[in-house]
Amino acid sequence: MGTGCGILGMLAAKKIRRVVAVDVNPYAVSCAKENAAFNNIRRNMAFIQGDLFTPLHETEKFEVILFNAPYLPADESEAESWIGRAWAGGATGRQIIDRFISETPKHLKRSGCVLLMQSSMADVDETVRRFKECGISARVVAERALPFFEMIVLIEAKT
Ligand SMILES: C[S@@+](CC[C@H](N)C(=O)[O-])C[C@H]1O[C@@H](n2cnc3c(N)ncnc32)[C@H](O)[C@@H]1O
Repeated sequence: MGTGCGILGMLAAKKIRRVVAVDVNPYAVSCAKENAAFNNIRRNMAFIQGDLFTPLHETEKFEVILFNAPYLPADESEAESWIGRAWAGGATGRQIIDRFISETPKHLKRSGCVLLMQSSMADVDETVRRFKECGISARVVAERALPFFEMIVLIEAKT
């Protein structure tokens, strides 16, 4: 989810049967397609432009969902540009994360797993709480301090 240049999708495609790479930004989708072709790994990748799970069939389910989300608190106006939408998560940083979590249960297989990356600035406890509310248990599996003011946190969530 939010494939950007396609890096995570391409790494996944080397290990698993089928990858669906989604991004709201049409330029990111073109870029990801080109990168995959350039690296000779387009065979098992599909590329879709759209908002979170909206462009997928509502019954489509995945074993693993990866999302390095736009997670920084920012003025709403930042999300008016494609580049802003790569990082801006609304006033609390949680605008996209919260929508993603609430739509996840419909698209995650039983025994499936989500790996979600976010900043400590966007309330990691709230992410864990919201997953739990959806019947998915979540925990922090890795974190790293960045030079400025935040920790980058990887959350694993499992049904
Ligand atoms: C932090 S970047 C991550 C890019 C890439 N996956 C990576 O790890 O380098 C977040 C990505 O999510 C995409 N994005 C933002 N809002 C989205 C939405 N509502 N639906 C799908 N993708 C979205 C952005 O366009 C951007 O490519």
